Amino acid sequence: AFEVQLASSGKVIEVPADKTALEVLLEHDVDLPFSCEEGVCGTCATRLLEGEPDHRDVFMTPEEHAANEEFAACCSRARSKRLVLDI
Ligand code: FES
Repeated sequence: AFEVQLASSGKVIEVPADKTALEVLLEHDVDLPFSCEEGVCGTCATRLLEGEPDHRDVFMTPEEHAANEEFAACCSRARSKRLVLDI
């Protein structure tokens, strides 16, 4: 499990191992756009302010993954305990 924090409200939400960050955010009424839910389209990409993702998407390049500036909420997870998202 890891946590996502919403930069706008400061709210911290736990993402359990059996759910995606996207699912948990939608459950908490965060209106995040998404489409494929498979890491392909990039619709769910959110700006990352802090933390180190475990990137699982395939739409970003290795360089973009290494930059850790975006997070694909439908599939990627976290190496750090918390990710701070610009939403
Ligand atoms: Fe398509 Fe996340 S919804 S990459």
